[in-house]
Amino acid sequence: MTHDSQLNGSVIAGGAGFIGPTLVGRLLDEGRHVFVFDNFTRGKAAYLDKYAGSGRLTIRRTELASRNDCESALASAAAICNVDEVWHLAANSDIPAGIEDPDIDFTSTFQTTFELLRAMQPLGIRDFHFASSSAVYGDFGSQTLHEGLGPLFPISNYGAMKLASEAQASAAAERFLRRLNIFRFPNVVGIPATHGVILDFIHKLAATPDELHVLGDGSQQKSYLHVSDLVAAMLVIRARERSSKTELVNIGASDAGVTVKWIAEQVVLRVNPSARIVFGSGSKGWIGDVPRFSYSSEKMHSYGWAPAMGSEAAVLRAIDEIARQESI
Ligand SMILES: NC(=O)c1ccc[n+]([C@@H]2O[C@H](COP(=O)([O-])OP(=O)(O)OC[C@H]3O[C@@H](n4cnc5c(N)ncnc54)[C@H](O)[C@@H]3O)[C@@H](O)[C@H]2O)c1
Repeated sequence: MTHDSQLNGSVIAGGAGFIGPTLVGRLLDEGRHVFVFDNFTRGKAAYLDKYAGSGRLTIRRTELASRNDCESALASAAAICNVDEVWHLAANSDIPAGIEDPDIDFTSTFQTTFELLRAMQPLGIRDFHFASSSAVYGDFGSQTLHEGLGPLFPISNYGAMKLASEAQASAAAERFLRRLNIFRFPNVVGIPATHGVILDFIHKLAATPDELHVLGDGSQQKSYLHVSDLVAAMLVIRARERSSKTELVNIGASDAGVTVKWIAEQVVLRVNPSARIVFGSGSKGWIGDVPRFSYSSEKMHSYGWAPAMGSEAAVLRAIDEIARQESI
């Protein structure tokens, strides 16, 4: 294939998972060539089938934590068109698994960031959009989480490696990046669901239809954002004129959120109304879980963005979408 310098390209690292496909659709709509690099530990090429006809989507199995693999994937994209941005979505999204084995987050959450940034510089790719997480904050109790808080003490390996990735990207911004966007979001829901509380409950009910066992006492309360709102917010930030190189934003619903108990009840109502809900003990679902937090999205709101759905509406819509995904 010859190089098309008129065509702009976007790399989406980890683009075959949950959030990636929605972003792929939006970037294809902009007329870009989209390159999805994913090792398919959690993602599936099939999630991107609906875009296959565009002629501007390239999917490549890539281990992004491997220097050779990462470099050659980025170089192959740059040989096709003018690749000017990388969206980094690849990470371990199984937080409890990362607590059991810290190597998982070191490799998939941090090393992927390190290798991507390292491979971008010689190719002159200078815009980096990073999917960070509310997990970088750790447990601030009832204090509202806003971007100015610090020092940050994450309580999961996942959160620690996200924070280390933010720091690594910041150093790269000093060195060669033109634009660095760091998006911190809490819980995102929708399809194709690859993980998360709703999918977990639906799988549990499929295994034991009469009982739903919940980790913790169900009092954990968090805000939830629908994936369509998340992607819209990320694109608002990317399009915004600004003088600073680096932007750090929380993206979340600004309501108080919903409890795990409420989500369990809604899933049971949709899947099997006669099932009994059995709660565990303690307010944490797992070590490293932050049971309750209030999230500030004031900065995003000041940029004119607000989610179309609050936490309740986002969760209800996602339950329906995921139940259909799982053929229920
Ligand atoms: N979904 C949420 O609620 C949420 C909340 C906060 C932050 N985030 C972050 O947003 C990003 C996207 O989340 P998601 O929900 O789509 O997760 P996901 O697990 O569905 O997608 C991540 C993708 O990265 C791929 N991947 C993982 N390690 C890789 C590696 N070493 N090499 C190549 N590919 C690799 C997986 O196969 C998967 O397709 C992640 O970085 C996640 O940490 C998500």
